[in-house]
Amino acid sequence: MILLNASHFVGKGLHRECYIHPDNDQLCVKVVVAGDLSESKREQSYYKRLQKRGISWDILPRFHGQIETNMGAGAVFDLIRDVDGEVSKTLEYYLSCEHLESTENPGISQAISIFKQALYRQSIITMTLSPKNIMYKKTGPHEGRLILIDNIGNSDFIPICSYIDSLAKKKITRKLLRFEKTVLKMCAHNKALLIELGT
Ligand SMILES: Nc1ncnc2c1ncn2[C@@H]1O[C@H](COP(=O)(O)OP(=O)(O)OP(=O)(O)O)[C@@H](O)[C@H]1O
Ligand SMILES: [Mg+2]
Repeated sequence: MILLNASHFVGKGLHRECYIHPDNDQLCVKVVVAGDLSESKREQSYYKRLQKRGISWDILPRFHGQIETNMGAGAVFDLIRDVDGEVSKTLEYYLSCEHLESTENPGISQAISIFKQALYRQSIITMTLSPKNIMYKKTGPHEGRLILIDNIGNSDFIPICSYIDSLAKKKITRKLLRFEKTVLKMCAHNKALLIELGT
């Protein structure tokens, strides 16, 4: 069993907390702090399908199995870090940042475009695509790429889209359209970024 404490804390959502793995600072451990394990189970079963398909893991962190922690069952994933070693920040952080350097805009805009193409091309099914569940991993001073860390998989009662690629693509197109709207709303105050995004 591993012991997680406040010194390992990375961030939290509504259901889970994320910690740096105490034995490997390139990994994180996610524990459920509110609700049941059903979301995590769904996520892990979809990850198994992606592992079987042999996807490239350019827009998703790899899953490294489960581990017992002092806070209950933990799920181990790649920890997303920037090129300087800092834990990456969410896309939401960058989009809503009031004083974002304008030099960041082209990198963010390009990362969004590449992410959308990759999600569609690899037929990765998601629930709501939200900028708070996507990390902007900085790979250089003014460039980066997006990595989806949550809401991966299919919550439909009968998840037929997971088996028929044309249906998966339709679903992904719908999710991406809604994601685009969310992105534009979130950065409405940043005219330079809106222009960069082609609006
Ligand atoms: N692989 C990762 N690398 C770096 N940071 C991460 C990673 N996974 C999660 N985080 C951080 O931990 C936070 C919470 O993780 P996550 O979104 O999985 O929790 P959640 O409770 O399932 O979220 P939600 O409220 O969307 O259901 C994220 O917002 C992010 O800041
Ligand atoms: Mg989340």
